[in-house]
This record gives sequence, C-alpha cells and structure tokens, in this order.
Amino acid sequence: MKGIRINEFGGPEVLKMENIAVPIPAPDEILVKVYASGVNPVDWAIRNGANIRMRSFLTLPMTLGWDAAGTVEAVGSEVTAFRQGDAVYGVPNFPGNGSYAEYCAAKAKQFAFKPQSLSFNEAAGMPLAALTAWTGMFWHGKLQAGQRIFIQGASGGVGSFAVQFAKAMGAYVIGTASTSNLEYLKQLGADEVIDYKTQNFEEILTNVDVVLEASPTRNNDERIKALGVLKEGGIFVSVNTDFPFNEQMTEAAATKKVSGELAVNQPRQDWLTEIAQLIDDGQVKVLISKVYPLEQVAEAHRESETWHVRGKLVLEVKKES
Ligand SMILES: NC(=O)c1ccc[n+]([C@@H]2O[C@H](COP(=O)([O-])OP(=O)(O)OC[C@H]3O[C@@H](n4cnc5c(N)ncnc54)[C@H](OP(=O)(O)O)[C@@H]3O)[C@@H](O)[C@H]2O)c1
Repeated sequence: MKGIRINEFGGPEVLKMENIAVPIPAPDEILVKVYASGVNPVDWAIRNGANIRMRSFLTLPMTLGWDAAGTVEAVGSEVTAFRQGDAVYGVPNFPGNGSYAEYCAAKAKQFAFKPQSLSFNEAAGMPLAALTAWTGMFWHGKLQAGQRIFIQGASGGVGSFAVQFAKAMGAYVIGTASTSNLEYLKQLGADEVIDYKTQNFEEILTNVDVVLEASPTRNNDERIKALGVLKEGGIFVSVNTDFPFNEQMTEAAATKKVSGELAVNQPRQDWLTEIAQLIDDGQVKVLISKVYPLEQVAEAHRESETWHVRGKLVLEVKKES
C-alpha cells in the first residue's frame, strides 16, 4: 500500500511517500481502509521528534496520523462490534503507525460508526480534536448545564468542537480568538467572544466555572491570569499536557481554591458514538478549512504549524465514490 512515513525526525521534508506492507490487525484490532486522515499538531510534533519523554516511545520508520475515517476491511478474532464494510471513524494507535496510509490497523475500541451525515473527509477531521474537547470539558472540567465556560483557542480544531459541545449541553460559552475569527465563534454559538490580540480577558471576566486552555499558549503566567476569572471551586483544564503546571501555578490554584487539570484525550468508543449522534442530530458541525491530497502532506503540515487554522485540515487518501 502507499503511505507517508518518516525515517528520521525533522521538518516537513522528512515526510516520504513509500510502499509499505498492509498491516495485519491484532485480535482486538480492525483493519481500516482509510479514506481520509485528519491533521493535528501532534503529527508535526512527533515528526519533529517530540520531547525527550515521548521520544523513548517512538519507533522509526513510522506512519503518522491519529485521526481516521474509512471502512472496515478486516476484523481481528476478538472483535464483535464491527463487520467488513462498516463505515467508521476513530483514533489509530498512539504512538504507533497511523492513518497517513491506505490501510491502518487500530484498536477496535477506539473507533465507532461514522456519523451518517458526514463525508469521510469531514469525519476524519473529528475524532482527536473532538475527543480532546470532550475529555477536557466533561471528564476533567465536569461541565454542567447552566455553568459558564471560558474557552481559549476557541476557533481551532479542539476549540471549535468545545464551543459547540458546551452549547449543546446547555452551558454559557465565552471564547477567545483573533479578530478575523470572532464572527466565526458567534456562528458556532459562543455567547461572548474576546479578541485575545486586543483585549485582556482577566479584566472582563469573573464567575467562570471552567476554563479550557485549548490554545497553543504554553505559559504558566497566562494560566495564573486565567485562574483569576474562576469562581471558588472552579476548574482550570489545559490540554497542553506536554507543558506541566509550575509551582507558582499550583500555589495560585490552591490560594484561589480552584483546581488545575491536564487533559489527554481519551479515545473512547462510547464518546465517539455520542459525538456522532450530536452531528447527525444537527447540533454540532464540522468545519474543514482545507482538504489536501495525501501527496501534499508537507504543505498540510506547514499550514498546521502556523497555529492559525480555522477548524480542521484533512488529507484525502481515497476519493469517495
Ligand atoms: N491533550 C491532548 O490530547 C491534545 C490533543 C489535541 C491537541 N492538543 C493541544 O491542543 C491545542 C490546540 O490544538 P488544535 O488542534 O485545536 O490547534 P489549532 O487547530 O492549530 O488551533 C489553535 C488555535 O489557537 C489560537 N491561537 C493561536 N495562537 C494563539 C495565542 N498566542 N493565544 C491564544 N490563542 C492562540 C488560534 O486562534 P486564531 O487563529 O483565531 O488566532 C487557533 O484557532 C494545541 O496546543 C495542541 O497541542 C492536545
């Protein structure tokens, strides 16, 4: 099969189209015929060699891509949830060989039936970002209907889903973006928008129940400012797990009587199924900002590395008939 692999860590030039053996699914895995793969910041972070802690888990050569939509080609002996031909979406094994390829073997429990109303290209833009928003807000942030949530980086892949999920569950949503994306946030359903380039959120907001840091800002001083907008007992959740809280941040949280959580996405089938339902019910939309053919993966990475993609980038692996 054809697939994009890296044989060394480095810039977009290390992404090479190669002929690779079709993977054989383990007993608890499915073999997915990949129609499309999402592109996420983690793809180019791994391509660059990630951090020292993560690097020890990485084996070269490696096929990147941890967001897939396609059809089930084969099932492992223990898999009962899917049959050949089912249309699915989900998160390939991480870290491991991913979805920048015509076929991908992955844990069946990390996949669910694709939302029926979406194309494969649209569905491929969902799993990782949507699950990160879901895990951060509902698992760590314990967000409830009627609560106020402040979402930083609300126009990005994770943030766009976070705004819509929070609205769908009945929360009051405040989001940040740069000027050109404020209207987009309102279209997603945000109740209030803040331009992080021209406004200081800490001078505007109070009484927030949950803060979701879904921006790429990795700065503990900024986090301490965000603690200031929380009410007592509030929860600050960051999805930037590669950038831990420092001592000042932890102390500030204790003084303010709020908690801080780092959220890694949980690739759960039951959540993917709930998310698919929200999509098919018309409560949540997927914005794909651009679809690149697989061959143009280096261009897609360059765009993702700007940190200013509205919605999602997708690689088309196979055209849908
Ligand atoms: N823990 C996990 O499991 C997990 C999974 C996926 C992603 N992540 C992390 O989540 C973060 C968001 O990922 P993503 O895929 O949503 O990225 P993305 O699609 O590139 O979106 C990033 C958003 O951040 C905003 N932004 C850029 N620079 C900013 C700044 N200086 N201050 C405030 N906002 C800024 C941008 O908004 P404007 O364009 O409007 O400026 C953009 O919409 C990343 O840090 C990523 O590493 C974590």
